[in-house]
Amino acid sequence: MPSTPNQDRDEVLRLLRTVAADRPALFQRADALRRARLGDAVPLRGIVEFSNICANNCLYCGIRAANTRVRRYRLSPDEILAIARRMADWQQMTIVLQSGEAPSADGDRTLGELIRRIKKETPLAVTLSVGNRPRDVYARWRDCGMDRYLLRFETSDARLFAQLHPDGTLVERLDCLRALRALGVQTGSGFMLGVPGETLAVLADNILLCRELDLDMIGIGPFIPHPDTPLAAAPNAYAADPELFFVALATLRLFNSDAHIPATTAFDAVVSGGRDLALQRGANVFMPNSTPGEYRKDYLLYPNKPCVDEDAGQCAQCVVLRLSALGRTVGQGPGHSIKRPAGPRPERWPGVTAVSEDILGFDLFPEVER
Ligand code: SAM
Ligand code: FES
Repeated sequence: MPSTPNQDRDEVLRLLRTVAADRPALFQRADALRRARLGDAVPLRGIVEFSNICANNCLYCGIRAANTRVRRYRLSPDEILAIARRMADWQQMTIVLQSGEAPSADGDRTLGELIRRIKKETPLAVTLSVGNRPRDVYARWRDCGMDRYLLRFETSDARLFAQLHPDGTLVERLDCLRALRALGVQTGSGFMLGVPGETLAVLADNILLCRELDLDMIGIGPFIPHPDTPLAAAPNAYAADPELFFVALATLRLFNSDAHIPATTAFDAVVSGGRDLALQRGANVFMPNSTPGEYRKDYLLYPNKPCVDEDAGQCAQCVVLRLSALGRTVGQGPGHSIKRPAGPRPERWPGVTAVSEDILGFDLFPEVER
């Protein structure tokens, strides 16, 4: 008999409350599931933070528009292509193009042309992470060759989302994710861990919403207060128990067996060797920073961001050493989603009981009969 939404939430909460003595067993379960479903090879996605120009003012983010201390930059398409051409040699078979969220004067056509050139001139898969856009822009980028898109929902609590994001709503964010999925783009989302005001119940709903959204990739990472933001003095909700970040990661894996889950940079910022631990507690993907060294200190979403003094070549070498020290190999090939073949998505992951109506107060997939 399928479980009910309440039973699922109880189970997630039970796992999140795992006491210290039982946490190693939880981590081992998550690691074993990761190995069974996705193997020991770690796909590398090189991230290029190509612009820190942002029109939004997310309360937590170091590159928010109102932060006048940031020196703004934007790499040219040729600069980005020069990096992309080197990435296959670094075994990074995906380029992730990330930036702030800024309106584009040309309807995002320049970015579309860049995707086209990368697809033509390199063997790379292309992931974009540039925020909310209208469906027709996502469709154009897909037609140019975009393979994947990352857009975190940040929190499943609509009120908390509104407090943190003066420029948008959770409903708009989820509409973007639904549009991407319907376009057949491999879709990634996720959330921050421990934003001020988050409770364990919200965290449980974040994990369940990831499953409900049937995500191909799930990125999560601890919230880290940035000194030049309105949340400068707001501690992480789990500051007293940083190991809970990994408990959440392991639980996320247990509820999302087939999703690609990266060991995100923010884990390194809160715990020494945090990304290595993440890879042993449910994560299976690594995202080396391939942004040119000179721009890195200008893309500080949060303090203590690792690799700010390195350049792309150094990070490329470092990751291979890190993985071999863990007994893992570098993934070969593009590292696409294992969840389904390319093409439009099935409307619902079979066997999943819808929880969105419970969490959000509305149904994510109203057009689908249950
Ligand atoms: N602008 C795009 C967007 O909003 O999707 C992509 C870039 S955005 C800066 C990338 C991610 O950084 C966000 O989704 C957020 O989760 C994370 N982030 C921003 N500020 C952070 C902070 N202070 N602590 C931890 N993560 C943060
Ligand atoms: Fe730029 Fe949030 S501050 S998207």
